[in-house]
Amino acid sequence: MEIALMKKRQLGHSGIEVPALCLGGNVFGWTADERRSFELLDALLEGGLNFVDTADVYSHWAPGNRGGESETILGRWFKARGNRDRVILAAKVGLPMGEGKQGLSKKYVRQAVEDSLRRLQTSYIDLYQSHRDDESTPQEETLGIYAELIAEGKVRAIGASNFTATRLQSALEASRKYNLPPYESLQPEYNLYDRAGYETALEGVCVKNGLGVIPYFSLASGFLSGKYRSAEEAARVPRAGMLKKYFNPRGMRILAALEEVAREVKANPAQVALAWLMARPGITAPIASATTVEQLHELVGATRLELTPAAIEKLNQASTETVVA
Ligand SMILES: NC(=O)c1ccc[n+]([C@@H]2O[C@H](COP(=O)([O-])OP(=O)(O)OC[C@H]3O[C@@H](n4cnc5c(N)ncnc54)[C@H](OP(=O)(O)O)[C@@H]3O)[C@@H](O)[C@H]2O)c1
Repeated sequence: MEIALMKKRQLGHSGIEVPALCLGGNVFGWTADERRSFELLDALLEGGLNFVDTADVYSHWAPGNRGGESETILGRWFKARGNRDRVILAAKVGLPMGEGKQGLSKKYVRQAVEDSLRRLQTSYIDLYQSHRDDESTPQEETLGIYAELIAEGKVRAIGASNFTATRLQSALEASRKYNLPPYESLQPEYNLYDRAGYETALEGVCVKNGLGVIPYFSLASGFLSGKYRSAEEAARVPRAGMLKKYFNPRGMRILAALEEVAREVKANPAQVALAWLMARPGITAPIASATTVEQLHELVGATRLELTPAAIEKLNQASTETVVA
């Protein structure tokens, strides 16, 4: 019922409407077991957010995993609930899935998409993304296989992730030159701490070409929630490797500003960090994951938060140091 109330945004020019926040699926089969993953996905739909991001390779880094676990859990959930048509599903291809299984060649993408569809127990993926650039494959070859998949109804739209601005631009030009489908979205790393990578060059390409932008690590792996008070504390959790770079004076300054704004708007720092992202140029829907239903509810709450220009300025000032204009 709430789905009708949630304000939707257009994902680039794809014609696909998405809510203002996407649930990250790399926790399924890693820090969220199957039962918890089902609870999170149920709560997501109840909260009116029907947008989920996964990848074939998730969550291969967890002990005992080989990749495909996140898609498998999602597939079982679609089957158990009979709700595939209610969800906007984003998936990815290209990172290593075993010997000779990686990249964006026509042959490999064809094989990978069939594997993903089987694990996901669906006949189509709404947004199929190149997980990272593959300079050894001509861009028109990759776009050509995506054109086939779109024509076959297996994919609705395509997106890029982790591309440089130059390579994203050249892919868009290849689409025009060869009359192939264009990337409709970009998935970059972007959050209140990691700003320069997106803001220096990618933002301009995305805004100019009307691409949807769905950034990952929106909460800086949980750091921006303010729940870790020290590097030692963060060193004890499964995300330790990703968290350690944030514990420095600039990181602490950002947390202080988040906490100040959170008090003013009666929200929590994670919600403020997401609301800041949602207000940035070109951003369609930040991606964040959750490992408890409480966290999921907080993510849903963030979509209702609008920051004043003064609050945004405070956050910009606290985080601005390493941004190259
Ligand atoms: N394209 C790419 O190369 C790429 C790379 C990485 C990720 N991604 C995508 O982006 C998604 C998001 O990345 P991520 O999950 O690694 O990072 P994230 O969204 O920055 O951090 C999410 C984590 O923060 C914690 N958290 C969430 N809500 C919270 C709250 N309200 N209060 C306190 N802690 C909270 C949870 O971890 P705890 O269990 O520690 O509490 C949660 O799993 C992934 O699932 C994936 O879909 C894409």
